[in-house]
Amino acid sequence: MCGIIGYTGSRKAKKILLDGLASLEYRGYDSAGIALCDADGALRTIKCGGRVSELASKANAIDFDANRGIGHTRWATHGGPTEANAHPHASKRCVIVHNGIIDNCLELRDELSAQGYTFVSDTDTEAAAHLIDREYAALGDPAKALYSAARYLCGSYAIAVIFPERSGEIWAIRRDNPLIAATSADGAFLASDIPALLAHTRMIYRPKENEVICITEAGITKHNTDGTVEAIVPEETELGVTAADKDGYDHFMLKEIHEQPDAIRRAASHRINSDMLPDFSTDGISEEFWHSFDSISIIACGSATHAGLVGRYVIEKLAGVPVTVNTASEYRYDPPAILGKTLALAISQSGETADTLAGLRLAKSQGHPTAAIINAVGSAIAREADCVIYTGAGPEIAVATTKGYATQVAVLCMMGIKLGVARGTLAADEAARLCRSLSRDIPAYVSEIIGRRDEIRKLAVAVKDADDLYFIGRGPDCPAATECSLKLKEISYVHSEAYAAGELKHGTLSLVEEGTPVVALANDSRYFDKMAGNIREVRARGGYVTLICTDDFPHPTEYGDSIFVLPKTEPLFSPLVSVAACQILSYEIALLRGCDVDHPRNLAKSVTVE
Ligand code: G6P
Repeated sequence: MCGIIGYTGSRKAKKILLDGLASLEYRGYDSAGIALCDADGALRTIKCGGRVSELASKANAIDFDANRGIGHTRWATHGGPTEANAHPHASKRCVIVHNGIIDNCLELRDELSAQGYTFVSDTDTEAAAHLIDREYAALGDPAKALYSAARYLCGSYAIAVIFPERSGEIWAIRRDNPLIAATSADGAFLASDIPALLAHTRMIYRPKENEVICITEAGITKHNTDGTVEAIVPEETELGVTAADKDGYDHFMLKEIHEQPDAIRRAASHRINSDMLPDFSTDGISEEFWHSFDSISIIACGSATHAGLVGRYVIEKLAGVPVTVNTASEYRYDPPAILGKTLALAISQSGETADTLAGLRLAKSQGHPTAAIINAVGSAIAREADCVIYTGAGPEIAVATTKGYATQVAVLCMMGIKLGVARGTLAADEAARLCRSLSRDIPAYVSEIIGRRDEIRKLAVAVKDADDLYFIGRGPDCPAATECSLKLKEISYVHSEAYAAGELKHGTLSLVEEGTPVVALANDSRYFDKMAGNIREVRARGGYVTLICTDDFPHPTEYGDSIFVLPKTEPLFSPLVSVAACQILSYEIALLRGCDVDHPRNLAKSVTVE
């Protein structure tokens, strides 16, 4: 949510800022703006209440450029997505962009208004701008001003500031919001994430919480509270330039779906030793860790919760360790009662989801050991958890997660195998078989599914005009169905729900009438008879059944109006395969309905507000 970009150096800033904002679009936003400031302090702010392309047309029509500037994509919280509310926001001696939320903005607005500041927007950010200005006027030093302002600010923020009178400098501070700095041969940058900068540099620095930094053409400096200044030496990121482009695919989502087999393979095989047994030593996790808790509380949002549901199934089956899956926005205020020593396990692709971070902090404050499954290296949740398991999915740009989810599931499956071995519920040869299945068979099957896109498109054509669509399944297909359903509604705007197949008749069956589409997942032979019965109930009411089943499902043509046959997999890991098929199904339906696949309306990739 929201994106920040900043540049200062020997090049002109306007194009760098506009290109940077375009590459941050995926984070979700509804208005945008830039501020350019030349060496003499002349400042020009250009904003618009719409897309970055509109901002670019407006900015390019203005004959002003400079070697220093900040830009922002705003996802409205305080005040609508208007030009007046778009960032940057200026005060007398500074102009700022801000991600996050200032919780005490009303008090600050009153206080600053009484002190003579005039507000021209409804935003919390403008209060931060005036506050920084007030402190700068009083203290005469940007670092002191930012540290002092931070003491008054309640909430979360990543802020970039230009003081026009201070030539060539851009200042920044962050708390609970992502912000990185970077250097290149011809200047320095600020951004909300690495992909926005890969076209310019791979030399990255991640400022710590509440650390004031300054970028100039010469590089990055860190300004300590005691007045000392340190030069920062950035580190080279592993990410290549193509990490941030579509690489020939029509959409990032499609590219990321295609990256799944490799991503799953890496996430699993990275944790398998030469005896084909699970081994988390490269994550820095000791053997004792696996014996150090009685149960696991998963804390997550969105698809990460659905990955957690698969994880619960696998971990409880393989290791008998009780797992609860908690929606982070609820957990953070009402954590469940627990018995014994519980590991709080946060799952987050971005590592910056506000509710998940708050849930993790609550668990920590209550004395629980914590761990996190994270994709974004060095993100807030990764920094705060006692131990981190990185999924290694690489940058995920499409709002709807695909490889992010798949790698979370792969890591959770590996944790299940590891816990089973560690606690003696899983024999070594069975663990090795499961490791082989997860690291070799599953990636191959997901590849095969991706190669059958034409077949899946036919399934999509049959249901594309639906107003409502239901997913049903049993056993491992039950948590899989939740993710399939979310994927569909996120990107195609078709109303969808997921049910344990046996639950349908307890209410929702009343909604099934002639032609109502129901996608039935059947990947575990233990439930085939029961699934067949549930499908009959749907068809008896005229429902249109898309059957997605493994090749051992008996007489599929008697059950499915359309059928997609999956290779027979280890049932525990089958969600990775069936969800891949449904990701493509959702993608095709979204295309047929003319939806903006990578940027679904109202949604943001990185949800940094409550
Ligand atoms: C947003 C995204 C979802 C994602 C959820 C949790 O809602 O659109 O795709 O599952 O946030 O994100 P996280 O980064 O914590 O996994």
